[in-house]
Amino acid sequence: MTHTRIAGTGSYLPARVLSNEELSRTVDTSDEWIVSRTGIRQRHVAAEGELTSDLALNAARQALQAAGIEASQLDLIVVATTTPDMIFPSTACILQAKLGARAGAAAFDVQAVCSGFVYALTTADALMRTGDYRHALVVGAEVYSRILDWQDRSTCVLFGDGAGALVLSRSDSPGILGAKLHADGRYTGILSVPGSVRNGKVCGSPFLEMDGNAVFKLAVKVLGELVDETLAAHGMARGELDWLIPHQANIRIIQATARRLGMSMEKVIVTVDRHANTSAASIPLALDLAVRDGRIRRGQSILMQGVGGGFTWGAVLARL
Ligand code: ACO
Repeated sequence: MTHTRIAGTGSYLPARVLSNEELSRTVDTSDEWIVSRTGIRQRHVAAEGELTSDLALNAARQALQAAGIEASQLDLIVVATTTPDMIFPSTACILQAKLGARAGAAAFDVQAVCSGFVYALTTADALMRTGDYRHALVVGAEVYSRILDWQDRSTCVLFGDGAGALVLSRSDSPGILGAKLHADGRYTGILSVPGSVRNGKVCGSPFLEMDGNAVFKLAVKVLGELVDETLAAHGMARGELDWLIPHQANIRIIQATARRLGMSMEKVIVTVDRHANTSAASIPLALDLAVRDGRIRRGQSILMQGVGGGFTWGAVLARL
């Protein structure tokens, strides 16, 4: 039986740091409000002209280096993003060219908002098990700073830009143990960027709109259920899980999920304070930061879980 494993991880945050204090000079908010409601202390903002594919490129290079793989060895590139460089071609194809990856390798984007990375990883894993692929690059990359109304304090304080990546390689022993993906399109209205491009014009709002309370409640509910559902499918008890890597949107959502599961926060990776909600990039960013600071080690079990617009949610259980 073919298995896949995570061979290396990487991440990238743009150089420009925007602190809560700096933000409170242009919009009616405060560091105290943002930290107490969300746990966020700062976010990174892409430079003018810095594209999602550029963020992805930096994270991808780091992941390739960690895996000891050349870009030319990649057979598959999957990018999860809600903020692509352009409507088409896909950011994955643009990344393929920027990386100098092999022409002829497969490349495409996945759009599942903040669950994008777990959807992309699950898709890459499934393709590798059935197809003729040895190495895949899976990236989550976003520039949310471009779809925020910077005058709307209820949304602009919550998000940031960044990218995270991993190399998935075929292996003899199981690394990716399984996944669960879900969506419920009835909740389209609680979190969206409703605008579209028609006849050369943007029609409707091009900015993120959110019913924060509705998202909060739904996120806590589905994230709690997801842990048990995914572990049960693989005969694993909560106590056997080394690390939970939840979508980094809000420390209160993360704490509520851990509380609901009776899990100690010591087993939960939290990086939202450093980069705010980077949507599809948040899980691979948190994974890479925790691998690099030595918390997550080879052989340990991790459960990555995403939740976001759609409404979408999903989890991937892996052994590093
Ligand atoms: N600074 C100061 N005051 C603010 C700000 C701000 N940035 N934003 C809102 N407020 C005010 C509101 O206007 C309101 O004032 P009022 O009482 O005078 O009307 C007050 O703060 C309370 O607003 P609430 O919405 O009740 O605040 P709440 O405690 O619910 O926190 C928040 C809001 C942080 C958005 C919360 O609902 C939340 O975390 N929701 C989850 C949303 C999320 O994380 N989304 C990320 C994308 S979704 C995803 O990735 C899963």
